[in-house]
Amino acid sequence: MFAVVSDIHSNIEAFSVVLEDIKSKEIDTIYCLGDIVGYGPNPLECTRLVQQNCKFSIVGNHDFALVENSTYGFNKTASGAIDYCRKVMFPGFFSFLNDKKKLWEFLKEMKKVEVVDNFKFVHGSPLDPVFEYVRLEDTEHLGFGYTLDFENMFKEFEHVCFNGHTHQPLVIIQEETEYKGYKPEDINGEYQIKEGVKALINAGSVGQPRDCNPQACYLTIDDNQLVKFNRLDYDVDKTAKKILDEPGLDDKLGHRLFLGE
Ligand SMILES: [Fe+2]
Repeated sequence: MFAVVSDIHSNIEAFSVVLEDIKSKEIDTIYCLGDIVGYGPNPLECTRLVQQNCKFSIVGNHDFALVENSTYGFNKTASGAIDYCRKVMFPGFFSFLNDKKKLWEFLKEMKKVEVVDNFKFVHGSPLDPVFEYVRLEDTEHLGFGYTLDFENMFKEFEHVCFNGHTHQPLVIIQEETEYKGYKPEDINGEYQIKEGVKALINAGSVGQPRDCNPQACYLTIDDNQLVKFNRLDYDVDKTAKKILDEPGLDDKLGHRLFLGE
């Protein structure tokens, strides 16, 4: 059994609740799909917890923006949050006194793709692991062909690929040349992995869900390959207050947490 977490986005309250829940299920294998940092108030603490608790993390576009010093394509709110992250996390002259250098190196060394058995792990999409978004709408072709190259995307993995990036949990399965998308609420919050059926499974977001549900989201996959979308309440007030109190972070980032959008 293992767990998959994604898009923690510096939200220590949400991530702590998720880690507690994973521990209560006696799961000790956790994979992270990236975007550990960005948006929220506690990037250092979240990176430390990922480094201590996860087998690996994939690099997300926000982690990439931080360590590569490149916020190309980011809006003002997102790039402002990366500036805040850099201020908090960059290992300066006194970094020998703390673990900042170690955590910075951890972020820098994260890979774009990982594979464990028949499972592939990316942040964005199997075709463009860091940056491409794959949404439910992309599976609704209305007779004009798909907006994304699903055919080549699904050739990039053997059986199941886990991704994040959109902050919206989703299952897309391949049925010959058709690609069908399902929200967790349409499939009872779970998906049974089947032999011979390729699936791209989006883990949603721990720290900034955008599916109109403010609860933290993460996946568990049991030994019978049943995937569950878990949703958990956390102290949104506390996280939002920290964001509102931090001049380096746009207030919008606090307000959106209450709405899950
Ligand atoms: Fe993200």
